[in-house]
Amino acid sequence: MRKIRNNIFFIGSIDWDRRLFDELIPLPDGTSYNSYLIKGSQKTAIIDTVDPEFSEEFLDKLKDLEKLDYIISNHAEQDHSGSIPMLLKRFPDAKLVTNKQCKNMLIDLLDISGNRFVVVEDGQEISLGDKTLKFILTPWVHWPETMVAYLKEDSILFSCDFFGSHLAASDLFVKNKCEVYEAAKRYYAEIMMPFRKMIKKNMEKLKGLDIEIIAPSHGPLYDEPEFIMDAYKDWISDNVKNEVVIAYVSMHGSTKLMTDRLVDFLIEKDITVRKINIAHTDIGKLAINLVDAATIIIATPTVLVEPHPHAAYAAIIANILKPKAKFFTVIGSYGWAGTMVERIKKYVPNIKAEFLEPVLSRGKPGKKEYEMLENLAEKIKNRHEKVIKK
Ligand code: FEO
Repeated sequence: MRKIRNNIFFIGSIDWDRRLFDELIPLPDGTSYNSYLIKGSQKTAIIDTVDPEFSEEFLDKLKDLEKLDYIISNHAEQDHSGSIPMLLKRFPDAKLVTNKQCKNMLIDLLDISGNRFVVVEDGQEISLGDKTLKFILTPWVHWPETMVAYLKEDSILFSCDFFGSHLAASDLFVKNKCEVYEAAKRYYAEIMMPFRKMIKKNMEKLKGLDIEIIAPSHGPLYDEPEFIMDAYKDWISDNVKNEVVIAYVSMHGSTKLMTDRLVDFLIEKDITVRKINIAHTDIGKLAINLVDAATIIIATPTVLVEPHPHAAYAAIIANILKPKAKFFTVIGSYGWAGTMVERIKKYVPNIKAEFLEPVLSRGKPGKKEYEMLENLAEKIKNRHEKVIKK
């Protein structure tokens, strides 16, 4: 149990070893499942719990706690809710406080009895005596039922996934801002980016709050909240940066020759290029680079009549994450059928970007294809100049 402020404690678990979330999202730096204990003058509450893998360690931290009145569930996903059933068993008089939608999901996911719940509405408060918790519904950070809890007297926002980072760290509060920025941006890209417009609305809802500490349920706490809030304002804005992401894969070298030449042309035009070999990178690397880029390019050879499966996967991931890029295109090579462009287009209906003329080469690229790539770079430069705010 680690003290945050008087009668407010961190009781979460650090997962140094986890490397994959949802069998999909890479966690190069592990993660943590943050849970918080608040002892008011009359009532005691716990905010969120930990992944079921850490239930035993979690309950052990509470072995001296005699009474628990409320378990607050901000989010039904099991990395936060998974230890609730054990906690309810350990404290049979405790009530489970959440919103209506989260209640239904907790019943579905964890088979919790309906009579253990206290349902709260948006803006409702509960008193712990000398401390008051206010609940604010913040849908889609990360599921539709998500909410945050604001501890009024201490100006602490318990934000669950919102503002979190997948980072196992021994420091309770952010110490190394660069490290946390990278982890939080990766987390935003993988978890939050598809809900960018909803996040904007939720940020508006938080505007009136005096926040001294943001206590998320993954990663270190923020004692300078503006650090992460300013970062979010940048990420969720409609502004794009003078950047091109090229997700590429090559089989016999033709697509690599094209990609390398295009990279050179873009660099000559002072455009930042993120060239990502999708055969070897983790998808988090792709995701994080999709946050700001004005242009996305898929570079792929043709496998029979399809894009290379790695390229198809990258396109599907980009489509799921709904980046704010303004321009999109495809470059690559083929042996006998130049059909992969149309196939890729079908994978990306969510990317509302202008589709620029693709560049394809039958076999090894030559002078003609390199000229087309140079023209593409020039076109990208001109388009960027029109949309990028200085
Ligand atoms: Fe950390 Fe959406 O759970």
